[in-house]
Order: sequence, then structure tokens, then C-alpha cells
Amino acid sequence: MRHLMSPLDFSVEELDRLLDLANDIEKNPDKYAHLCDGKRIATLFYEPSTRTRLSFEAAMMNLGGKVLGFSSANSSSAAKGESVSDTIRMVSCYADICAMRHPKEGAPLVASMVSSIPVINAGDGGHQHPTQTLTDLLTIRSLKGRLDNLTIGLCGDLKFGRTVHSLIEALVRYDNVSFVLISPEELRVPDYIREDVLEANHKNYREVIRLEEALPDLDLLYMTRVQRERFFNEEDYIRMKDFYILDKAKMELAPEDMLVLHPLPRVNEISTEVDNDPRAAYFKQVQYGVYVRMALILTLLEVKVC
Ligand code: CP
Repeated sequence: MRHLMSPLDFSVEELDRLLDLANDIEKNPDKYAHLCDGKRIATLFYEPSTRTRLSFEAAMMNLGGKVLGFSSANSSSAAKGESVSDTIRMVSCYADICAMRHPKEGAPLVASMVSSIPVINAGDGGHQHPTQTLTDLLTIRSLKGRLDNLTIGLCGDLKFGRTVHSLIEALVRYDNVSFVLISPEELRVPDYIREDVLEANHKNYREVIRLEEALPDLDLLYMTRVQRERFFNEEDYIRMKDFYILDKAKMELAPEDMLVLHPLPRVNEISTEVDNDPRAAYFKQVQYGVYVRMALILTLLEVKVC
């Protein structure tokens, strides 16, 4: 039995197969409509979510399966002190697979150690968000046609942004991918990403503060939100929250074929006036998230696809 804790749990070849499967699901949805008849996914969300929880549920329903779960710690027995390990033992009796989001880093890993069903990390604290990364990879490969030979700008909260950490770890495995890390000094990527991931894999990267400086060189801009929930003090959050705002004027500095991605939710960091720009791909990204989660469920449940 396989779990998914990190995007690195799949080899590059396995990822290619998963993304191929997601593209086939996009083209031929009817072929997949009953492959999970009789199966259930449990969505165990100890932290708020719109896209990840609902896209897992939509994915299982698109495959003919059913869903159960909870959307906050307060509506589960976690509020009475039940441990993640005990909860997953129960859920293993009710469902065939589960997706867990938790504010504590490593909580889904703890669950996977005692689970008798596959556990998917749906985001653990500031650590990893592997299914967002699968979504990002599918979006980039589908819209750019490749995952290599890219210059990628990552902008915003690179310190606490788990989507950024997971995406960098996944992309260093492809040839000739360069990174421009755009953040205020206080929100730079953690040392382990710089040293153990970028430098250890001999990747070109530079760190800049001004978005305007980076834009002309990018194939792809990955914007992120400054996350209020990760700050210890409100004053720091308020000082940082509007540090970057991508608007029409800044988009004029970017190449005509640069894609703009964002894991969402956004707050102010992308002005709504950018939404109609053909380079804005963040709503398409949401749709790709359903296809890739369908492919992931089929893969972890080892459902035979003819
Ligand atoms: N991208 C993402 O994880 O969104 P949610 O927090 O709404 O799930």
C-alpha cells in the first residue's frame, strides 16, 4: 500500500505516467466515470480549505465513488482530544482512501504509519502540499508543453509557503530549470530549501526583492499569498501583506507567453484586472487539480485502467 506525503514519493517516470493519466481523464471523462463505484474517500481537514477538499470530493464523485469526512478540527473528536493516530484507525474502517490536512507538520505521516488505507497529505503546516504540486506540474506541462528548460519566478511568502517548498523540490529534478525567488527579506525560502534542495541539485537560482526586476526573464510566475495564519504577530502580517501586487502595469513588463499561476486563495497579491489577461492561468489550474486528483486516487487504489 502506498501513501503520498511528498511529491518526491513518485519518481519522475511515475509522475509522467500520473500526468499522462490526468490528461487522458481530461479528454475522456466518461471512460473513468465508474472506475471507483463502491469506493469511498474520507476527507479529514483539521484546517480550512476550499479547493483541496472539494476537488478531492469532486474527483472521487467523478470516478463514481462516495465521500465522507469533516472540514474542521472542531467538528470532529479532535476537539475532545482524540489523536490523529486513533482517528485514522477509525477512518480505516469507514473508507478506502483518505486525504488529510493538518496544521502540524508531519501529522499525515504519523497517520500513515498506523493506517490500513492510503493516506494523502493534503497540506501539513508550512511543510508540504504534494497534491498542489501535482496540480502545478500538470498545469505547467499541459500549457507550456514541458517541465524542463524553464525559468520560474516564485513570489511572495516563500518562508511559510508549503506550495512553494513542494514545487521547488519537484522541479529541481528536471533539466535546465532556473529559479528566481522573489520575496521580502523576512519571507525568504528556508535555508534547507536553498542548501539541501537548490544547491545540492546544482540549480541556478537568484533571490530578488523587486518583482519588476524579475518579470522580463520569466517563463512562469508563481504568485503566493502572505499567510496570516502562519504569522505569530499581527503587526508583521500587516506590514508584509501587500508587499507584492501583480497588476496590469507590471504584466506589461512580462513576456507575452509567461504564465501566471497561483495555488489560491488570493487576497490582494493579484489584482482582479489581471484575471482576463490570457497569461493568467490560475483558474485553469483549479480544473487541472480535479483531473490530477482523479489520477492519484486511481493510482493509489491500484484501479486497473484499460
Ligand atoms: N490551494 C489550496 O490548497 O487551496 P485551499 O486552501 O482552498 O485548499
